[in-house]
Amino acid sequence: MIKKINTKTIKLIKYYNYINYDLIYKNKAINRYQKDIYEISAEKVEKLEKLKKIISGITNCNLKRNATNIVFSDGNPKAKIMIIGEGPGFNEDKEGLPFVGRAGELLDKMLDSINLNRKNVYITNVVNYRPPENRRPTEDEIARYLPYLKKHIEIINPKILVLLGSTALNAIIGKKEVISKMRGKWIEKKIGDCATSVITTFHPAFLMRQPAQKKMTWIDLKMIREKKLKLKI
Ligand code: URA
Repeated sequence: MIKKINTKTIKLIKYYNYINYDLIYKNKAINRYQKDIYEISAEKVEKLEKLKKIISGITNCNLKRNATNIVFSDGNPKAKIMIIGEGPGFNEDKEGLPFVGRAGELLDKMLDSINLNRKNVYITNVVNYRPPENRRPTEDEIARYLPYLKKHIEIINPKILVLLGSTALNAIIGKKEVISKMRGKWIEKKIGDCATSVITTFHPAFLMRQPAQKKMTWIDLKMIREKKLKLKI
């Protein structure tokens, strides 16, 4: 029997293909419509598609010129927790997904420690193309991608925004902020139409170099867990 698929479903399928979401083509039909995953509005899908298209169309960008793939996002667009890293590395550039390398493995462990995973958070980066040699994005590059990042945040509209490392901190909160002073603090922030609670913690790549700082990150993670409970997320 052939079933008709409505346009909303087609848009969702297109979007999940875009972000390489692994649930879209599960073999068993019963798995295809897991409510949590599919109840994002067609409007949100359209906005995300449009944003990705705009970023893909960037010209005169040194990052894009040297990159293999755009790295737009991973995770659940319906999530109430959004995580922002710095920029794609070698593996992310190859796969077109954020945090799939060693830093990603640690991020997954950090999330898991407070019962989170890529099905209940949404992940992106300050810049969407890999900086050559994995260098930090320059101030100009950050400034160029910031309007897209802000739009991205507005579309996802998270209740909790987690900034990983100083690049994300400086982009969203302010250039002069220092991570050692700002981590582990809640800041109420309005980004476009999105009012959100922002917390900064150390970037997993930094934690791999400085494992002694993991104990501070554990404090931050517990703060996120508590906030999640308080906000009934
Ligand atoms: N580091 C980041 O900041 N983002 C990634 O996607 C991977 C590593």
